[in-house]
Amino acid sequence: MPTLNLPFLGHGADYNPDQWRDRPDILEEDVRLMKLAGCNLMSVGIFSWTALEPEEGRYDFDWLEAVLDRLHGAGVSVFLATPSGARPAWMSQKYPEVLRVRADGLRNFHGERHNHCFTSPVYRGFVGRMNAALAGRFGHHPAVVGWHISNEYSGECHCELCQAAFRDFLKAEYGTLDALNAAWWTGFWSKTYTDWSQLRSPSPMGEGALHGLNLAWQRFCTRQTADFIRAEAAPLRRLTPDLPVTTNLMELFGQLNYFELAKELDFASYDSYPAWHTASDEWIADVAAFNYDLMRCLKQRPFALMESTPSQVNWQSVCKLKKPGMHLLSCMQALAHGADTIQYFQWRKSRGGSEKFHGAVVDHVGHEHTRTFRDVAQVGDALKKLDGVRGTMPRVDVALICDTENRWAVEDCQGPRRNLGYIPTVLEHYRALSRRGVNIDVIDSTCDFSGYRLIAAPMLYMLRPGVAGRLDAFVRNGGVLVCTAMTGRADRDDLCFLGGFPGPLRDTLGVWIEEVDALADGETQSVAFDGVEYTCSTLCDLIHAGTARVLGAYASDFYAGRPCVTRNDLGDGAAYYIATRPDADFLDAFYRAAFERAGIASLVGGLPRGVQVTRRGDALFAMNFSGGPCTVTLPEGVDALTGERVGGETPLGLYGVRVVRLP
Ligand code: GLA
Ligand code: ZN
Repeated sequence: MPTLNLPFLGHGADYNPDQWRDRPDILEEDVRLMKLAGCNLMSVGIFSWTALEPEEGRYDFDWLEAVLDRLHGAGVSVFLATPSGARPAWMSQKYPEVLRVRADGLRNFHGERHNHCFTSPVYRGFVGRMNAALAGRFGHHPAVVGWHISNEYSGECHCELCQAAFRDFLKAEYGTLDALNAAWWTGFWSKTYTDWSQLRSPSPMGEGALHGLNLAWQRFCTRQTADFIRAEAAPLRRLTPDLPVTTNLMELFGQLNYFELAKELDFASYDSYPAWHTASDEWIADVAAFNYDLMRCLKQRPFALMESTPSQVNWQSVCKLKKPGMHLLSCMQALAHGADTIQYFQWRKSRGGSEKFHGAVVDHVGHEHTRTFRDVAQVGDALKKLDGVRGTMPRVDVALICDTENRWAVEDCQGPRRNLGYIPTVLEHYRALSRRGVNIDVIDSTCDFSGYRLIAAPMLYMLRPGVAGRLDAFVRNGGVLVCTAMTGRADRDDLCFLGGFPGPLRDTLGVWIEEVDALADGETQSVAFDGVEYTCSTLCDLIHAGTARVLGAYASDFYAGRPCVTRNDLGDGAAYYIATRPDADFLDAFYRAAFERAGIASLVGGLPRGVQVTRRGDALFAMNFSGGPCTVTLPEGVDALTGERVGGETPLGLYGVRVVRLP
């Protein structure tokens, strides 16, 4: 199977020259500036449908050929896009079925982008013909190194075609209506279905509170998007079997299960827009790192940083500029976590349209004498020095489970409070793990657990078939497992486990959860662990330690003295249970102990707050997001960016980064 395998670290941007077709001088100037900025890779034609097919069946590809030829002549490679992320108006007008229908049954008007039905045979037909034509004409063009299909797949369609496809999906999933009714517990509130035709997608005008239906619909939306991707990629794979296919994915995106979607892609691509300087950069950097680790784990391969901004975006409520140093630092962070390309949205600022004030490499002024352009050129220069990391993967002992299907269930949960905070909880654990100075894999519950020493599985409310058994085997074989409040409540259809929570993990964790108290926002309780009192919030499970040893207890309310932190030694490993959502200081202390139990060493010890380290290939990245200068103790080696010998106590300036090539 082809994959991302460029002969260089990619550097470039979304390139949308169809905006400037009446300005051949601009194409010429762009090529000059690309060379100057050290750019070698452009994503071309992402929303170009109207330019490519101005009227039904009449393709106009000559302008694109001229662009590809010119880029190739200048040594710039291309991810060629398929334009399905936005349609021409003529298509919506003549074939309204390509337009999406909302959950309330109303069909959208033409407009915006990402507004098409994934099921419509008419739309699939147009996409298939367009993609075959593009692949036929440009699939063997020497500039083209991969396919960027569509853009940021998202959303759902509730049209009758999608309803019929949903019913087919349900028949395949459940086989019989009896099985479906049992799995969804439809006997409650008289919801029993007696004919398949009664089934519809969840809607604010109809059924919204049947958790099994909601989950099935979310699974269907992922399945239907994946099916669309498969159809969209089919002509490309047929005509250009050696070119890898990707699409750009989004930050913390919960609508689609990316681990399922990634099966349709040859490599993962990511659009990264951290809101630097709008809150603590330390926290923002943790969230960015989490997303990069997830992207790398989708295919267990390096990914493309398909989009990022070279300066500011235009859609955050307040769009801060990157302070001096932050551009290089943030690009190095993506590289450190497994990116093999650094690309921006977009190359040249649009003159009009909704993103005309979005940062771009070339500003409205049109020349290279800008801070942003110099920042970009500096990254181009750095990437040439760091080519040695290309294609490499980190060695990882620690995995964090972030499971999208579990997220769906937790976010749809009614009780014991609103906003159970699944993603915030996962991120809190990520931060605590990252502060220990190690590489981290972000995986879901279907991934292979066997290579890790420690797995953190916060709030794993839903245990899909086989997961509890695999976690149990992981522990017995010597792994360290960390679970938290709201673990092991329900199966894949959101049916509660009978016989005591945490359900099938009860023996593994050695605890029984009898009750759970919910805390209001801002309300806390205390927990004593290792002689120190910490605060905790959101949920307090009241548990009985069976075979588990009690390591910490609640220190407030009527449950003071009851177990809160336990460890169950099992086989060669150990399973911890944290019965609440503890504060960051607790998690730091807790993971220090858990890492010791698991025998995991830090890459760099005694990390100052806000400094991240990660190792990729033979390079150790030390990155300072602390907001001030600091000092880290680095191993001996050569700084690949500056050529200096470093080692021992090493200063890291404000937003400073060191890439130490280890011997
Ligand atoms: C997304 C889209 C791009 C552009 C950028 C702006 O990532 O894929 O087309 O709209 O956002 O930040
Ligand atoms: Zn539809």
